[in-house]
Amino acid sequence: MTSVLLSSVDPVSAEVDALVLGITDELILPAAIPAATRSMLHDMLEALGAKGKRGEITKVPSGGLAIAPLIVTVGLGSDATLDAEQTRRVASAAARALAGTTSALMHLGEPTPESIEAIATGALLGAYRFTHFRGAGSEATPEPINKVVISGNPSDKADAAALHRGQIIAEAVNAARDLVNTPPSALPPEELAHAAIDAVRKLPVTVEVWDEEHLAAEDFGGILAVGQGSANPPRLIRMEYAPKKAKGTLALVGKGVTFDSGGLSLKPPKAMETMKCDMSGAAAVIAAVTAIAQLGLKVNVVGWIPTVENMPGGHAQRPGDVITIYGGRTVEVLNTDAEGRLILADALVRAAEEDPDLIVDAATLTGAAVVALGDRTSGIMANDDDVRVAVWESSQRAGEVMWHLPIPEESRGTLDSHIADIKNIGDGKGGMLSAAAFLREFVPAERRWAHLDIAGPAFNEGSPYGYTPKGGTGAAVRTFIQLAEDLAEGRLG
Ligand code: BES
Ligand code: MN
Ligand code: ZN
Repeated sequence: MTSVLLSSVDPVSAEVDALVLGITDELILPAAIPAATRSMLHDMLEALGAKGKRGEITKVPSGGLAIAPLIVTVGLGSDATLDAEQTRRVASAAARALAGTTSALMHLGEPTPESIEAIATGALLGAYRFTHFRGAGSEATPEPINKVVISGNPSDKADAAALHRGQIIAEAVNAARDLVNTPPSALPPEELAHAAIDAVRKLPVTVEVWDEEHLAAEDFGGILAVGQGSANPPRLIRMEYAPKKAKGTLALVGKGVTFDSGGLSLKPPKAMETMKCDMSGAAAVIAAVTAIAQLGLKVNVVGWIPTVENMPGGHAQRPGDVITIYGGRTVEVLNTDAEGRLILADALVRAAEEDPDLIVDAATLTGAAVVALGDRTSGIMANDDDVRVAVWESSQRAGEVMWHLPIPEESRGTLDSHIADIKNIGDGKGGMLSAAAFLREFVPAERRWAHLDIAGPAFNEGSPYGYTPKGGTGAAVRTFIQLAEDLAEGRLG
């Protein structure tokens, strides 16, 4: 795993394998480099055809211009003062280019706490790889960079805190990516529960795991109904972080479908290929609770993870069945592939019982979200406009792309059932909105709640971009951590 640390050493004197320097589109190097060296490098870069375009990587042998044998320049573009997101992307491009290198010093420009945090996060997210399931003797791809030294003052409190925050957030995102990338046979509900326990082992977080008997005793009918078609029994995981002097309580709920075959309403093969990602909301909750505890944020956080495998076994629920959600409301299940909302309904009712100040769920809930928003934008829906805007603002601060959607009353109307309180599918139009309308039924009206449909961004089937790898992305982790911070600091009302 890649490590990050701070050093205020003069960049050209750093004893590392590579020196990473930011360059502008006029091939201007950072002021911390001696003037003569800057001008020589400028001419070399010009001769190599470097343009300094944002993210552009150029490698130059240092030839004695620095202790490091290799100089890697990364383009900053025309405006050398980058915002956090631009900095994360640039640092990520550099980290990727450093694969196979043991150590590097990154000096993109005069460091600030903001840039240090963004470089740490970007480098760690960019260096991420998932190799756990490569066989012995498989083609060796270069190892990710081992050690990234970031220019900054390790004895300055603000610099050190920024590095720490950047590192913890990136490691949480990478931990969520690992869980999502893990094959579904290796991560049934029981294993997901073990992963939650392992993640917080040395932290002040308590984890309770309710097995199928406990779930039956307490009438969690949604989780049990979806889970009954699988040989791997369902679980409900509750994680609690309750520090002293907490400024409120945040409930985070994550959809934990470890594999979604669709159940008897079976998906076609192509649609099933990525359905190990259907526990991305759960992964985000586990990772965020871990990071929130590591950061010692002054807010109570309760994570709820209903987890099941949605399979078409002999005991599977049938289209036409009526089930009873925790708390007593009944649902006519007409499509067993609309399963996420059934397990989330149980968890939302249970989460609300504890009177949190805010409930936010994240779920790879609908294919309709991917149609509407594409695969890089999550949808935000809520039972209150102020909450929706506040959650969007937190997502912006965190650097995740999300956008607002309504929950129209008409959507709720399409869910009317003749024989039960509600049915689990609407008329097929606006599927992301009717799914949210369904969930809203299970949250008390006075309780502030927001729903994130992360079906698009949770899993990247295309090529890597920015600091986003192929496969699991860790979507919603940073927004969840930011929400906890914003609640602790009174920004969420
Ligand atoms: N897990 C899927 C949604 C999904 C689709 C996530 C694509 C990620 C990528 C969800 O359980 C599902 O199957 N939803 C159905 C709902 C429909 C039956 C009302 C869908 O979107 O087709
Ligand atoms: Mn489904
Ligand atoms: Zn699903």
